[in-house]
Amino acid sequence: MSELHQDEIIAREIAAGRDAPGALLPILHAIQNALGWIPPQATRMLADALLLSRAEVHGVITFYHHFRTHPPGRHVVQVCRAEACQAVGAARLEAHAKASLGVDYGETTADGAITLEPVYCLGNCACSPSVRIDDEIAGRVDCDGFDRIVERLRAEEVSA
Ligand code: FES
Repeated sequence: MSELHQDEIIAREIAAGRDAPGALLPILHAIQNALGWIPPQATRMLADALLLSRAEVHGVITFYHHFRTHPPGRHVVQVCRAEACQAVGAARLEAHAKASLGVDYGETTADGAITLEPVYCLGNCACSPSVRIDDEIAGRVDCDGFDRIVERLRAEEVSA
């Protein structure tokens, strides 16, 4: 997507949300929902529109793990790091996910297929450890299960 088109979408989301109380966070969510990430020019556009400093806007974007400052891969896989999942082996799953994909959190595989992210509870604690694959939540994911998820994503890409 061109930067001009991104600017149009950012401006649209700012116009739609700027008059609501506490407008910054809802607008950031709307921009990320529309674009998949928060492009750098959004900081300036939001600061100008909401009469904030760029440092304030940047601080909010970087404070929350949820907001991406780089475009995601074609799929986003999130591994839960919260307490219930940690209690049943999420740390091992996290290490396996990073090693098998060859990326750290916030990074995308070299083929652009998968971005790996941490998440702090998916509301699926009873079925820990939990993983979100794009919009789908999976429970009781062990290392083998993680590999099967990745294989499925790659197979879907080949057949698409
Ligand atoms: S702690 Fe992982 S889903 Fe709630």
